Parts: sequence; structure tokens; C-alpha cells
Amino acid sequence: MANGRRKDEWEEPPTGFVAEANITERDADAFPEAGWPACWEAAADLLEWDRPYDDVLDDDGTTCWFPGGRLNAASNCVDRHVAADRGDETAIIWEGKLEETRTYTYRELYAEVNAFAAALRDLGVGEDDVVTIYLPMVPELPIAMLACARIGAPHSVVFAGFSADALATRMSGADSEYLVTCDGYYRRGTALDLKHMADNACLSVEQSIERVIVNRLHDDIPAGDHHAFDDLVADHAGTEIAPVERDVDDLLFLIYTSGTTGEPTLVRHTTGGYLAHVAWTSHAVFDLMPDDVLWCSADVGWITGHSYTVYGPLSIGATTVLYEGTPDHPEKDRLWEVIDRNDVNVFYTAPTSIRAFMKWGSEYPDRHDLSSLRLLGSVGEPIDETTWQWYREHVGGGECPVVDTWWQTETGGVVLSTLPGVDSMQPGAVGRSLPGVEAAVVDGLGKPVDSGLPGELVLTRPWPGMAKSLCEQTDWGGRRTRTADGDWQYETGDKAVRDGDGYLHLRGRADDVFNVSGHRLSSTEIESAIVGVEGVAEAAVVGRSDTVKGMAVHAFVSPESNVAGDDALRDQIERAVESAIGAIAVPHTVTFAPSLPKTRSGKVVRRYLEAIANGEDLGDTSALRNPEIVGELESLLEQ
Ligand code: WTA
Repeated sequence: MANGRRKDEWEEPPTGFVAEANITERDADAFPEAGWPACWEAAADLLEWDRPYDDVLDDDGTTCWFPGGRLNAASNCVDRHVAADRGDETAIIWEGKLEETRTYTYRELYAEVNAFAAALRDLGVGEDDVVTIYLPMVPELPIAMLACARIGAPHSVVFAGFSADALATRMSGADSEYLVTCDGYYRRGTALDLKHMADNACLSVEQSIERVIVNRLHDDIPAGDHHAFDDLVADHAGTEIAPVERDVDDLLFLIYTSGTTGEPTLVRHTTGGYLAHVAWTSHAVFDLMPDDVLWCSADVGWITGHSYTVYGPLSIGATTVLYEGTPDHPEKDRLWEVIDRNDVNVFYTAPTSIRAFMKWGSEYPDRHDLSSLRLLGSVGEPIDETTWQWYREHVGGGECPVVDTWWQTETGGVVLSTLPGVDSMQPGAVGRSLPGVEAAVVDGLGKPVDSGLPGELVLTRPWPGMAKSLCEQTDWGGRRTRTADGDWQYETGDKAVRDGDGYLHLRGRADDVFNVSGHRLSSTEIESAIVGVEGVAEAAVVGRSDTVKGMAVHAFVSPESNVAGDDALRDQIERAVESAIGAIAVPHTVTFAPSLPKTRSGKVVRRYLEAIANGEDLGDTSALRNPEIVGELESLLEQ
């Protein structure tokens, strides 16, 4: 609904929740009084600083949050909780694929992180050396991340579902000479060979790579050119490594994401601003308290897992759940069983998952006692009203506040959401921007549009979790721009509408990035893999709405004139995408077409293909050079 639901249909935060919330109405009023950027001091105050910062923001040229400050992220996430006599509290609960579980107290985490940090140092890792981590959801993943942070070595986590080629591109791009990976992992009961992928990637990069292998499959790993994670930790057991003091602006990590070009986009996050942002949003948006158990179901290979499985909850001193499995194995009540057993208080997932749960039916959550839950979160794509209500009713027992959180890899942490103890919830809308964040909906010229009208979502003021590239880019180019009046503006690439009450409704991407089952993909990246297949003349990839996945990948491929668009070619295309990016990017549908709709200047018009794939009306197509192809494609899809 463009103008949102009537206010009397909004949901108020439950009274019991409001009474106990971290952020109350009074706190919320204090933020505007403090003013921007001073209100962000509350975020920095959640951290322990080795050297206090001189100022909240230096925005003269390059943007720097909390300039002058020095800190270490690992010591903020681990040491200070041990020092505060919370060493026996649980830091990580791991729920493994084969029904194994493992827990780490903060003291145990401290020991593991120190031992692995010492091992990394011995392998030659110095401050600012990039360590690539290619691991599935095993405890060694956060341990390796924190060990890197401890010695000031930025990590670059590569999602384990990416291919060897994708790993190689990321290792080369980051000039990384160290890799932490494992022998393999289980997916739906079968063991997948990750070491083989990693070996292939190492062969195809120029630099030589020092490898550490986690033994996940419990088989013997043939001796070779690598170190075993367990041996390294055992050899360095008891060693303590002083955390390296990092400047606020020093890198904490690199992460690659899909952008609008054919190449993955490198996003760099800094130590101070990022950590302050994720700590503050964990506290304010997820209402996380040190005694809470948070389960963010995203893979740590994506930004959501970095921020709200690792750095956010651990900086608060809470317990984080790391889940290796799938939601429907061994049974479709697996997640609810995990919540029940571990008394999870805050659960954070994506609408694509909630829609799958809805499809399976409420009998699965109904089987379990989910009364430990006190807050639910959603992220990754717009959550429609029906899904929102189902989530609140069947998972949240009708009582938990639901926060719809909008953010991106580039923003580091949540920037748009309601505050659960303060704001009314409007199912289907993310709410306003958080205190200290300013958002606008603008037209193609960067001018704000009236409420009720669609436009592009921009952020008009810097925020602490912003990626370093956004801090540095002060010119007119790129996605950080200045308007004609010289104002700061970051183009998010998302479409949105602001309703009469100021709540924002997200409408998907305005560019060619899309989200499939929570994985951020770029059509250009997939297209370049497809056109690399012999016999393919042209390809265009669009997102097709899918009731469960949110989006499905639909490829339109035009083969060379003497080549048949048959199953063999489709097979090759699928294999090419899988090897360039990974199974997550393989098109769900491939339509072979004699040609693609083009403008008179020869540009493929994706907008029309998107409408065709989604069965929507195309409107006037007379400006095309080949309007007849539209009807042909429509009838091909009907078959
Ligand atoms: C989309 C994931 C609507 C959006 C944290 C954004 C959302 C992209 C929401 C970033 C939401 C994320 N409502 N859309 N609550 N949250 N998105 O970088 O299109 O993997 O630009 O970060 O996800 O995806 P990324």
C-alpha cells in the first residue's frame, strides 16, 4: 500500500517489553536533543577504548568517526567480558549438522582466540596482512575472525558456497597470502569437498598461500602443504597475545559483495565506527542485553552474520548461536527445536525463510515452547504484511515486537528500523531511520519526492558503520555523491516510498543487484559467466518474483545462429555459473531466445525482460529496435 496502513491498524510495542527495553522513549527523545553527530556518542560509549577519541566525527574531506580513538575489536568482544567476571557466561552455542553441539564460554573463547592468534603470528601474519577465511558455519569461523582482529590483521571471509574461481578472485583482489579453510562440510547429509575447491583456488592465484585446514569431516586429511587448525591451537595452548591497539580507521575486515559491475565489489570496514555501530544497533534495535541469547540465522559469510552473529552480540557480551544445518533437516521443526532447547531470546532471519516456514505450516513451531523469545527481526528484503503477521503470531506468540531492519553490506549495520521499545510497528514498513541516520526518497536528480511517490532511497548524513570507501569518496563520482547544493548523499540502489506518517516502504533494488534466498547477487556477474560459454551470443539475467525465495534468477540467452538452445547448452550454462560464482547463482530458469529486446542504439532493455519474466504488462514497446521479439518471448514463456 503506497500510503501505508491506517494508524489505528498499527501494532504498539507490548507494555511489558517497553518497561524493560534498552531504549525507552526518554532515551529516544534525548538523541535529537544531543543532535547529530553527537548522538552517536552513545554508540561509542558501549565500547572500551584504549585511547579515548578526540571527537565524534571529523567530516572534513575524508569522513572519520571517533577520530583519535584506539581500540581492539577482539578485546572488546572477548577480553573485557572475562575481565568483568563474566568469563563463565556462554559466548557461543554451536549447533552442528550431525546433531553435535559445542559451547564456548567467554573464557574458553578467550583461550581459543589467543592460541589461534599466536599461531597466525607464527605463520607470519603481521598487522594489516589480509587473512582469507573460507569456512562453513563452524565455531572455528568466529574464532579465526577474532584471532585476526586481535593481531590487527583484517579478515576477508568468503562464503563457503562460493566456487574456487570466486575464492581465487577474492584472494587475488585482497592480495591475501593466508587462507583458513576446512576439508569439507555437510550439506543435506552429504559431505562436500571444500579443500579441493580451496586447492584449486590457490593454484590459480599468483601469490603463494599459507593454508590452515580445519578438520570438519573427522576423516584423516592427507598430509600436505598446510597446517591443521587443531594442531596449531594445541601447540599454542595457553599462549596469550596482547591485543593490538588499532586506530579507529584501521581496517577490521574486507568483504566482497555483488555490485552493479561484472566483478564483485570490495567493501572495507573500519574498527571503530563499524564496531560502535553494530554494538549500538544490537543494543538499541535488537534490545540485546548481556544475558540474552541471540540467533541470527544468516551465514557468517555475509555481512549479516559478521555484524549480528559475531561482532554485535559478542561486543555486548551476549550469547550467540551458530547453526550449521538447514531448517528442514532432520525435520521441519529443526529451528524451533534449537530455539526451544537453547532458550533463544532474539531471533533474526529473512522473509524468504519465514515464507518457507509458513508454507510448511504452523504445526512445526506449535510443537515447541518458544516462550523464551522476546524479540523478532527481519532482514534482506521487504517483509509483506501477511508474512509479518504470521511471524509475530506463530513464532513470536503474538507478543514479541518485530523489527524490520533495512541495511546493506555498505552500511555495516542496521540504519532503518523501528526502535522496539519506542515506536509503533507498521507491518510491511521498515519504519523511520534510526536516530542519527537521515534518509530521503529522491528522484533521478537527487531531489526529494513527495510522500506516497516512489523514488530512490538515499542516506543524507554519514553514520558510523559506513564502509571506508564511502568515507573516502568525497568527489561526485561513485555512489557517494553530493547534490547540486553540495549536500552529502549516499545512493543505496534501493527503491522506496515514504508514507504520510514518515514510515519507509522498501520496493526492491533500482539497479541490477538482487537478492535470492538471502544471497546478494548481481545480474552482470552472472551474465558474464553465461556469455563465456561457447555458443552463447548474448545473455541478460533478471530477477523473477518467487513466492518463497523472494526472487528467482531468470536468464534470457540468445545462442549464436548455428547453435541450438537445448538441454546440453543449458547444462553448460549452469556449470559455467556454478564454477564462476557458485551454486547459489545458477539460474532457476533459462529461456533461449533468437534475440533480446534492444533499444535503437543496441542496448538490451532489462526492464522489459523483467516484466516478461514476471508476467507483467510491458506498456509501449514501440521504441525498441525489435519490438516483435517481445511477443515471441511471451509465447516462449507460456509454453
Ligand atoms: C535488501 C544485507 C527490504 C536491500 C543486510 C539492500 C532489504 C540489500 C531489507 C542489501 C529490508 C536488506 N527490507 N530490503 N529490511 N534489508 N534489504 O548487502 O535491497 O546483502 O540493498 O545486506 O538487501 O543486501 P546485503
